[in-house]
Amino acid sequence: MKVHGKPMRSIWVEADGWSMGIIDQTYLPHAFVLLRLTTLDEAAHAIRSMQVRGAPLIGAVAAYGVCLALRVDASDGALERACTLLQATRPTAVNLRWALDEMRQALRPLSPGQRVAAAYQRAAALCDEDVAINHAIGRHGLGLIESAWERKGRQGRVNVLTHCNAGWLATVDWGTALSPIYQAYDSGIPVHVWVDETRPRNQGAGLTAWELGQHGVPHTVIVDNMGGHLMQHGQVDLCIVGTDRTTARGDVANKIGTYLKALAAKDNGVPFYVALPSPTIDWTLEDGVRDIPIEQRDGREVTDLSGRLPSGEVVTVRVTPEGSPVANYGFDVTPARLVTALVTERGVCPATAEGMLSLFPERRPAR
Ligand code: MRU
Repeated sequence: MKVHGKPMRSIWVEADGWSMGIIDQTYLPHAFVLLRLTTLDEAAHAIRSMQVRGAPLIGAVAAYGVCLALRVDASDGALERACTLLQATRPTAVNLRWALDEMRQALRPLSPGQRVAAAYQRAAALCDEDVAINHAIGRHGLGLIESAWERKGRQGRVNVLTHCNAGWLATVDWGTALSPIYQAYDSGIPVHVWVDETRPRNQGAGLTAWELGQHGVPHTVIVDNMGGHLMQHGQVDLCIVGTDRTTARGDVANKIGTYLKALAAKDNGVPFYVALPSPTIDWTLEDGVRDIPIEQRDGREVTDLSGRLPSGEVVTVRVTPEGSPVANYGFDVTPARLVTALVTERGVCPATAEGMLSLFPERRPAR
């Protein structure tokens, strides 16, 4: 996608041919700051501190984190230690585990001398695959937005509600949930996005609104509790969100608050779609509510709000009484029964085990 008119991805190899460039997302939307990562520890810190975030992007950064580790020591032990360190940075998004497994699989059979070049090649391929997957999700999701536009008799605008940030900043490019929106906008459909602010870290208000603004997509930021009201008043034609881990039967973990939007959508007959790249499917799990590990984050994300003064200075203020305990689960699980359909790179399917296997038949257990 483009920033200030210039095409870019969310991660790249720098001109030196080995260090990684990222956008430090903790500064957005206040400032656009690029960061160079040169060590395994810097890559792990970038994921842990959410300088980079979003399930596909943390997988990509982890893959390059392995490359940085192997430049120093390409032994079996170093490969394992790097994967263990990176895996422990964030627990919910399965893309992290997936990317590390892909790297291990490609590198273990090689001699240490061959590993560094092969690691950079595999990491670059994972990034290119992510871009292709997300573009394909956008094409399939575009059909759903077109249908909503048809249902409205091609009158007015198509109102889409999204939660958190599942745009290009959360992936290598295009995004998952935002990819259909970008493609709808680019093909001339008058799309308008209700952007949930997504407390406590405000990925909607800060990142999704910024991304959509860069691309010129009409949007309105709303507080997290407003979606139900808008749905009751016919102001939402469809919801589309991303996911950090989806089980083999279609239960969807995504940013905290997604479940409540799905409930409101069900109650109001609003289609609730989940954009799902295949590396986000955890084929080993069925029951998402029981089995998906949910990240618990620092309580200061709840007690404190930060914003920017007209001078540009970023300030943080406390909004809860000193001493009030807080809870801060980062994700929740939307049961498959509340999901209208999954939008994958291979097409759209029901959120059921059978629906998913119809698109990924190679995952069907052998009889
Ligand atoms: O905590 P974050 O910002 O990493 O959470 C991101 C989300 O919940 C996204 O919706 C999800 O990763 C899908 S990204 C394409």
